[in-house]
Amino acid sequence: MTAYKSGDPTTLNRLYGRAKGKPLRQGQQALVDTLLPRIAVPAEGPVTAQALFGHDCPLHFEIGFGGGEHMAYRADLLPDHGFIGAEPFLNGVAQALTHVDGDNGAHPPLGNVRIHHGDALEVLERVPDGALSFLYLLHPDPWPKARHAKRRMMNDGPVDLFARKLKPGGEFRFGTDHPIYLRHALMVMRRHTDQFRWLAQGPQDFQQRPSGWPETRYAAKARAQGHEIWYFRYTRN
Ligand SMILES: C[S@@+](CC[C@H](N)C(=O)[O-])C[C@H]1O[C@@H](n2cnc3c(N)ncnc32)[C@H](O)[C@@H]1O
Repeated sequence: MTAYKSGDPTTLNRLYGRAKGKPLRQGQQALVDTLLPRIAVPAEGPVTAQALFGHDCPLHFEIGFGGGEHMAYRADLLPDHGFIGAEPFLNGVAQALTHVDGDNGAHPPLGNVRIHHGDALEVLERVPDGALSFLYLLHPDPWPKARHAKRRMMNDGPVDLFARKLKPGGEFRFGTDHPIYLRHALMVMRRHTDQFRWLAQGPQDFQQRPSGWPETRYAAKARAQGHEIWYFRYTRN
């Protein structure tokens, strides 16, 4: 991820991981070819509930949804809400499409999800200010080297953008298992206390996964490796 300047959405020419991994399985490729065009966020224009879902509803936005399991869980839990997810990694998009499609008949398809295969900030810029009820940033790429700190998603430019897009009382959820990122993120968020209020009352609030916050694939791997995971909930002032 590149450093982000407001008004100059990042391009993905310096992605931390890969934009494409293993070849897609036949079924996944079919979903990319047929389902993705139907539920893709339009390439231009305002990204509103009306434009995406044809009616007004609370909007949720997930940045870098990985395999899409968190987004799908939340969308299933809140069928009257609209979910927008952005992810540049094609294999992740394909996995998310499998969830949206109903996980091979395990549940009905999710009609309240729209996907952008690409940079989250480009789409977030097109969401009207104050339109989001929830914004999720779960285990963003760590960029652990100090000289790459500007590439971290959690930086003043993106955080200002998050603040602009959330409605007052809207919630920003952030999770990480990376101690360097944790310190960096807390430092950044301390500069934004006029915009965000941290909801933690005590350590259990950031050391234990809150209810309604399903474990992501990445978090499960981190936990299996013995990493501690930290959970943050901020409300927009
Ligand atoms: C460490 S993974 C975590 C994935 C998922 N959130 C999870 O917890 O399992 C970070 C994800 O962020 C995605 N990412 C990186 N830059 C991004 C950007 N500019 N917009 C959207 N997603 C991005 C990566 O492709 C990757 O899937």
